[in-house]
Amino acid sequence: MNNKTFYIETYGCQMNFADSEVVNSILMNQGMVPVQSAEEADVIFVNTCSIRENAESRVWNRLKEFRALKKNRQELTVGVLGCMAERIREQIIDKEKLVDIVVGPDAYRDIPNLLAEVDDGRKAVNVLLSLEETYADISPVRTSGNGVTAFVSIMRGCDNMCSFCVVPFTRGRERSRPFESILREIDELDQQGYKEVTLLGQNVNSYKHENTDFTTLMDLASSRHPEIRFRFSSPHPKDFPEALLHLIAERPNLCNYIHIPAQSGSSSMLERMRRPYTREQYLELIAKMKKIIPGVSLSTDIIAGFCDETEREHQDTMSLMKFVEYDLAYMFAYSERERTLAHRKYEDNIPEEVKKKRLTEIIQQQMSIQEKNNQKEIGQRHLVLAEGFSKRSDQQLSGRTDTNKMVVFDRENYQKGEYVEVEITGCTSATLIARPIAKSSIGRFYAEPAYA
Ligand code: SAH
Ligand code: SF4
Ligand code: F3S
Repeated sequence: MNNKTFYIETYGCQMNFADSEVVNSILMNQGMVPVQSAEEADVIFVNTCSIRENAESRVWNRLKEFRALKKNRQELTVGVLGCMAERIREQIIDKEKLVDIVVGPDAYRDIPNLLAEVDDGRKAVNVLLSLEETYADISPVRTSGNGVTAFVSIMRGCDNMCSFCVVPFTRGRERSRPFESILREIDELDQQGYKEVTLLGQNVNSYKHENTDFTTLMDLASSRHPEIRFRFSSPHPKDFPEALLHLIAERPNLCNYIHIPAQSGSSSMLERMRRPYTREQYLELIAKMKKIIPGVSLSTDIIAGFCDETEREHQDTMSLMKFVEYDLAYMFAYSERERTLAHRKYEDNIPEEVKKKRLTEIIQQQMSIQEKNNQKEIGQRHLVLAEGFSKRSDQQLSGRTDTNKMVVFDRENYQKGEYVEVEITGCTSATLIARPIAKSSIGRFYAEPAYA
């Protein structure tokens, strides 16, 4: 047994946050004790992200701060987990001497052995990727969540090889977790009082385990837990069967919100990005979503300034975004990553200031679309799941609509974890303000909203 304290600091996507909860479980099984700050910990882990250069620089800076902590505390152990592990293991351990232990995303079960090696005075590394590992039998320990919403990883890795993206190299081959273990984890969450589950994977809708595909899994999970709300992230536009859209439309607890990354609105650009759809095919899919799921809320990811991007291609992205009217968008300037096809074959030839200018245009247009969309919400009723106090005041609760919009309302006698029917009274581009009407439930709200 090892009764040291540990602290995990997590960067990157939701999957990394879910992985940190798996690592919590592995360490706590050894008798180790989680603490809330680096200063209190005997072992500090940084769960890292490589997706863009600025994600990596944040981690490097943090590791330098931890090295400073180590100067005064010789016995402190610092480790790197996650997507940066493989690529920079030598640099981290040998050249910079910043850390003691490096563990890739498929090697977390080995952490106890690696910690023992460090105790014996050695540096320890395991960055092997696996074809099978899904941590299916490990129940994640959610130490930092709100107790209401949870992430459940259903697949790992990615085989898509979009030309700009490092994920297939950091996370390895795509593989799906057995559905029995997914359903078991959701049963446990239900027993613990969780009310919302987001199923996670880099191509979550490509999930396939034996005969169970993503639509079947969503069907099974949502019918077993009618008062749990389900979301999923991130689906890929190439794999969206109509049956899934119909299921979302019919099931009250499958949220009418779809994150559907476009990356670009230009067919020539999509081809260079190795995204296997055209602008027209993407727009057809969006039209189908809007038709089958009336009122569906959509969000996207967009990259500005990818290799050889012309002004015309950029304008195609602007017009696509204007046409779809997303409720939310994650927008990035292209950042070249080693090992990707773009790094090997294309030139990162859009000057920084042009990338920035295009990104700013994209963001400004998106903000005004969101404000317009939110204005239309005023007077509408929504079922909000209260997730906790609002950032500004403990007299207000905040939570999200089924359509994933953040709502703030007066606390009155409502509690975190309750479904509350609200009427929207105001908005900004990012948040809706509402008047609470009555405590409710998924069953009641979608059968008959309260009479007020
Ligand atoms: N699997 C998800 C994306 C995961 S990465 C999908 O395919 O939709 C999250 C987002 O980061 C991507 O959608 C993309 O918009 C962005 N991204 C990935 N690589 C990038 C890079 N090299 N530069 C800038 N943004 C990038
Ligand atoms: Fe990256 Fe493309 Fe895989 Fe998404 S689908 S993780 S963007 S390679
Ligand atoms: Fe980053 Fe790895 Fe996620 S590179 S975005 S943490 S899969």
